[in-house]
Amino acid sequence: MNVLVTGGMGYIGSHTCLALLEAGFTPVIYDNLSNSSVKVLEQLKAISNYDFNFIEGDIADTAMLESVFRDYNIPAVFHFASLKAVGESTEQPLRYYDNNVSGTLNLLTAMDNCGVKQIVFSSSATVYGDPQYLPIDEQHPISATNPYGWTKVMIEQILNDWCLANKNNLAISLRYFNPAGAHQSGLLGESPNGIPNNLIPYIAQTAVGKRDCVNVFGNDYNTEDGTGVRDYIHILDLAAGHVAAFSTHKEDNGSFVYNLGTGKGYSVLEIINAFSSSAKVKINYQFAPRRTGDIASNYADSSLAEKKLGWQAQLNIKSMTDDTWRWQSKYPNGLE
Ligand code: NAD
Ligand code: UFG
Repeated sequence: MNVLVTGGMGYIGSHTCLALLEAGFTPVIYDNLSNSSVKVLEQLKAISNYDFNFIEGDIADTAMLESVFRDYNIPAVFHFASLKAVGESTEQPLRYYDNNVSGTLNLLTAMDNCGVKQIVFSSSATVYGDPQYLPIDEQHPISATNPYGWTKVMIEQILNDWCLANKNNLAISLRYFNPAGAHQSGLLGESPNGIPNNLIPYIAQTAVGKRDCVNVFGNDYNTEDGTGVRDYIHILDLAAGHVAAFSTHKEDNGSFVYNLGTGKGYSVLEIINAFSSSAKVKINYQFAPRRTGDIASNYADSSLAEKKLGWQAQLNIKSMTDDTWRWQSKYPNGLE
């Protein structure tokens, strides 16, 4: 069964393509390469010995999407394509709403025009805003603290309404907590453009000598050691979550939402220490003021995914830091 993977050249999409292939699906990758390298294709082939179909295209291009749906006889879409930098979204909100929300509307329109009725969407724990309780389950109220987060809230709502309007449609929104790690081959991982926004890529670049020192944003939170706590989930577990969700629901209709996390939180200092052990180097860090919009702690109740999808994260924080380090030390500058 062919499936379209928008954003399939990116960090999470590329790992999920491998998991889909392994599960017997045939991913067709659709990506505009705005935040990824075409070299990802060579890495995917080196890992899987399979030549993935790749179409360079934008989700804004309804006509191109429609021709791909018809040419490849696609019944389902895994939708990763999105801009994702929180800070940038506050500076360029219209670009974010346009790319993410209008882009998704175009995608759904093309799907409707071609009779494609199933979508798995990359949502985020960011839709919970500032947590009212922990661990966070799917019933927690939804809100957002920045335009990027609002795009996720809006798209989830659009998918709900799309399913209400047509009883044959299926939409699964997966709310990721903090994706981390890399493929265990060391051939595929995350290579952010410019200065990394996220903690683990920043630590990885510090460990490899590209950055001098990690700024720890805040050491006065109400957490064990005062630094921010997050639920980091291995990218391979996350990829497996997509396969489990689609395999479970592919004969169903309606909209479904699942948290994908481990249920366990780690502080910034714990992550720095774990990475230091994996890389066997001392990682310089200094305390810096809190980052605007950050929350103290966030971790998932993923029991719904466990119960309904039979999915549970398997890989621990050591696997995440070991695998990130394997990738980072092999490709200090990413694939470029
Ligand atoms: P990424 O930037 O590595 O991948 C996104 C891919 O989408 C890139 O290859 C990019 O070129 C492509 N893309 C962007 N806009 C496009 C467009 N208009 N048309 C076609 N392709 C386009 O990001 P990622 O970390 O792999 O994230 C994948 C998804 O998961 C995104 O929707 C993101 O918001 C969501 N998510 C990510 C995180 C995280 O921390 N990485 C957390 C929660 C949710
Ligand atoms: N942090 C630092 N120094 C850094 C970067 C981060 O101390 O250089 C801290 C943050 O303050 C936070 C923790 O490390 O306490 C994690 O920060 P990240 O930026 O790695 O991740 P966030 O939890 O802020 O956000 C990420 C994604 C969002 C997504 C969210 C939930 O960036 O898009 O996880 O899935 F919505």
